[in-house]
Amino acid sequence: MTITTIAHLSEHVGETVTLRGWLYNRRSSKKLHFLQLRDGSGIVQCIATLAHFGEERFPEIGAIGYESSVMITGSVRADERAPGGFEVEAQEVEVVAATTEEYPISLKEHGPDFLLSNRHLWLRSRKQVALMRLRDQVIRSIRNFFHERDFLNIDAPIFTPAACEGTTTLFEVDYFDDEKAYLTQSGQLYMEAAAMAFGKAYCFGPTFRAEKSKTRRHLTEFWMVEPEMAYATLDDVMDLAEDMLQRIVDDVLAHRRADLEVLERDIEKLERVKKPYPRISYSDAVEELNGAGHAFEWGGDFGAPDETELSAKYDAPVLVHRYPQEVKAFYMRRDPDDDRVALGVDVLAPEGYGEIIGGGEREPDLEVLRERIAAHDLPEESFQWYLDLRKFGSVPHGGFGLGLERTVCWLAGIEHVRECIPFPRMLYRIYP
Ligand code: 4AD
Ligand code: MG
Repeated sequence: MTITTIAHLSEHVGETVTLRGWLYNRRSSKKLHFLQLRDGSGIVQCIATLAHFGEERFPEIGAIGYESSVMITGSVRADERAPGGFEVEAQEVEVVAATTEEYPISLKEHGPDFLLSNRHLWLRSRKQVALMRLRDQVIRSIRNFFHERDFLNIDAPIFTPAACEGTTTLFEVDYFDDEKAYLTQSGQLYMEAAAMAFGKAYCFGPTFRAEKSKTRRHLTEFWMVEPEMAYATLDDVMDLAEDMLQRIVDDVLAHRRADLEVLERDIEKLERVKKPYPRISYSDAVEELNGAGHAFEWGGDFGAPDETELSAKYDAPVLVHRYPQEVKAFYMRRDPDDDRVALGVDVLAPEGYGEIIGGGEREPDLEVLRERIAAHDLPEESFQWYLDLRKFGSVPHGGFGLGLERTVCWLAGIEHVRECIPFPRMLYRIYP
């Protein structure tokens, strides 16, 4: 017997195959059961008839509990009216393990708290499967993009001796002998070492922020991809960010249309994302906000409503560069043409999804960097190795970090980043 998956049914039209999955849903009439079988690769309708199964088996099939594991053998036929385009006429229905309790997640609406507490089961739902497939595609596109451009994948450590993105969002861990370690906020500083060793490198891993914010954009554990390039300027960094985002959007449209449809995404909006993306300076952005009657004072960091206002005019992500140096991290290079601003860039996603990328050019000068570390009250001992990078062959260099979940959230067009990671960690949630 041929064992296959729902995604591969098109290769077996007219044949008898076995599918192995779980009972997702069922509709019944006197003589027919329409069994919705899911196997992770898709959902297919399998028809079990009274005529075939007989008076005894037919009602048993009608009583199989939702999410029982079942194997169904039957013949495959193409049917345009069937969701997915195929149907299976069941010849055998074998229950592998019947559910012993009623499945907690019915197909009706549930509150977010209940769903999050049942995340291990919620992941089986159609929309969640589509989201995870989208996430997988984004990861794949990113890795392919960097490998095609000769970036080396270099993994950054998770335990670190110091802060990278400010001391207020550090998770402290007890290391050995009373030593403290911190969960990494960003692999960037290590990627700078990697860029000096390999020219172009990227890391892609979990990062941690003890952010006490309960917004739809914040997780305490999230995944970030961070490319870093030697001999690169802010413009090179912006070009790279734009190319990478376009690649992701193109791949998602080419390979994940069905999932976008399950998510009820307005696909036309994604189709309108085309290079070149708008680039505006922070100062121009402030003027634009004020011109639109949205009062904003030069010097502050943009909040979510400001970002939404700024991106509203554009179909594509917008690159905002040269922020006031006070609101940016210690490592950002100052603009030689305007000491008030740093050579950094934030990329704001369309449709109010906010910042998905932060990056820029790094301070290459040893003395300036020393002053900056002191000015930010950071312990210089912990940064000796980082300062070495400026002592031994310092070059202009830069890179960025893209938040994976925020990017998936925008592409999927959903409300909250918590659904864009398999098991979200947030201010009040680390279960399951
Ligand atoms: O702007 P951030 O803080 O930049 C850095 O960490 C740099 N060191 C990266 C670099 O240049 N290599 O964070 C980068 C991105 C943000 O734009 C956002 O997409 C995401 O990481 N991010 C978060 N995502 C979810 N939850 C949070 N709490 C996040 N904080 C940042
Ligand atoms: Mg940022």
